[in-house]
Amino acid sequence: MKKITIAIDGFSSTGKSTVAKQLAKALNYVYVDSGAMYRAVTLYAMQHGIISEAYFNVDRLVTELDHVQIGFKYNATLGFAEVYLNGKNVENDIRTLEVSQHVSRVAEISEVRRMLVRQQQVMGKEKGVVMDGRDIGTVVFPDAELKFFMTASAETRAKRRYKELLERHEHVSYEDVLKNVMSRDLIDSTREDSPLIKAQDALEIDNSDMSLVAQFEKLYNMAQRVINQE
Ligand code: DC
Repeated sequence: MKKITIAIDGFSSTGKSTVAKQLAKALNYVYVDSGAMYRAVTLYAMQHGIISEAYFNVDRLVTELDHVQIGFKYNATLGFAEVYLNGKNVENDIRTLEVSQHVSRVAEISEVRRMLVRQQQVMGKEKGVVMDGRDIGTVVFPDAELKFFMTASAETRAKRRYKELLERHEHVSYEDVLKNVMSRDLIDSTREDSPLIKAQDALEIDNSDMSLVAQFEKLYNMAQRVINQE
């Protein structure tokens, strides 16, 4: 059967990764969370005193990029690949609010983007991949056979993210989460290099009032249609 590339872009906390993971599993495709890679670089910068709220040594981060090794390893119990930074599993460490607060500034750096885009293109070169992010349909795989652009209101997304953080026992306020969602939207969509925009040929899905099952079915049916097309 024909293998295709599926790009899922959209604003933060639109639930892209949940539906992307389900879709990859149903199609027996590889799932790649490109945001996890930007988060891993950010974690490296935090751990090495390169970034904090008040400080960001961009030059040092760029110089040290060859020391940042990012990998994915499939976890059969979880059913998806977890992200590794320099050989250490950082799947949980990259999901904190602190990393979310710094990641958009790291994702603005062209050298970081170039390094990660190259790695993402290698991961998707055999097709049979579902990748989610901000620039997958526009920059990483402009020729992807199927592209989605997910949206939902900032409040809906902040509520989802807040619930997720509470479940992970992070002590955060809803207001801080909403602030973070809105500030990331702004930085992600106005940055100079590869801003978050909908690819012309992407199908926009506002999932504010859609169940996970409905989202999955929509994406899965579209994917089947494209895969079975001659
Ligand atoms: O999807 P996420 O929230 O885990 O992504 C974290 C950040 O990484 C997001 O604020 C913007 C950046 N990002 C990006 O610039 N390009 C991508 N392809 C994926 C994520």
